[in-house]
Amino acid sequence: MSAKPKVYVTRLIPEVGLQMVREVCDVRLWEEELPPPKDVILREVVDCDGVLCLLTDPIDAEMVAAGKNLRVISQMAVGVDNVDLKAATARGIPVGHTPGVLTEATADMAFALLMTAARRIPEGIDKVRAGEWRTWEPMGLLGADVWGATLGIVGLGRIGTAVARRARGFAMRILYHDPERKPDLETELGVEYASLDDLLAQSDFVSLHCLLIPETHHLIDEQALRRMKPTAILVNAARGPVVDTDALVQALREGWIARAALDVTDPEPLPAVHPLATLSNCIVVPHIASATVTARNRMATMAAENLLAGLHGERLPYCVNPNVYEGSRHAL
Ligand code: GLV
Repeated sequence: MSAKPKVYVTRLIPEVGLQMVREVCDVRLWEEELPPPKDVILREVVDCDGVLCLLTDPIDAEMVAAGKNLRVISQMAVGVDNVDLKAATARGIPVGHTPGVLTEATADMAFALLMTAARRIPEGIDKVRAGEWRTWEPMGLLGADVWGATLGIVGLGRIGTAVARRARGFAMRILYHDPERKPDLETELGVEYASLDDLLAQSDFVSLHCLLIPETHHLIDEQALRRMKPTAILVNAARGPVVDTDALVQALREGWIARAALDVTDPEPLPAVHPLATLSNCIVVPHIASATVTARNRMATMAAENLLAGLHGERLPYCVNPNVYEGSRHAL
């Protein structure tokens, strides 16, 4: 009987996925609360056939090279900007991710952030807790209307589209910007294509749903923020570095925009003393958009499926770099 494949799992993940891996693999598991340091990952992958990782792990070229036996990298997330795809592809290693199963949870969170910022809910909660609710105030904590407002969606992929569906329920005018025009969605959802500049200038809410790739790094920079309305609210449930943090801090301090609501930041984690964490017109939650029981169970299952497929020499069901299958060695 051949030995079980060796895999490294970089954190405790929902049991439903871990169990699937344990049944067929020799699992080494990092059980700490915080991610494994890079030198630990480097050491662990040396004799591994597969790795199941998270977006907090730097799966860079050095790590890919260290894993001499690696046959699959399976990430329990949809975004894989922490993985050096070029290095993995050059070595013929398929990289898996978990699209689709977190779409609705993430869209729910983006919309929740949008509404929370629009209606200044955290400030209201703080006021009550501080014993400062003295009367009904005709002009206290005035927020922005969501109903009928204009929403600009940057990146009309799965999650952006799910946000658009929610926005329709609020009678919003929906603009989108994406590298590709989406005529079917324009018809189905009534979304209107706009250049990024027009979207920024016209939107009451700008919600980011693009991938983090070199083209979108600091897409929302000083110039972009200055284009937005002074009453506008920025929502980011994509990746922190899509926004230039220093420019956003300045924008919030100087009133170029009204508020920001962020599920992701740059850096992550965000120190409690960071201006984004302390400004009263900024809301930050700790990258929890996909954090529902259902979504995380599905993500763990999907990550296990990708891992096991790679170990069995089968095509990953959800592969980020399918071009690895174009070479002869990995052709199926
Ligand atoms: C979460 O941010 C993910 O990419 O799945």
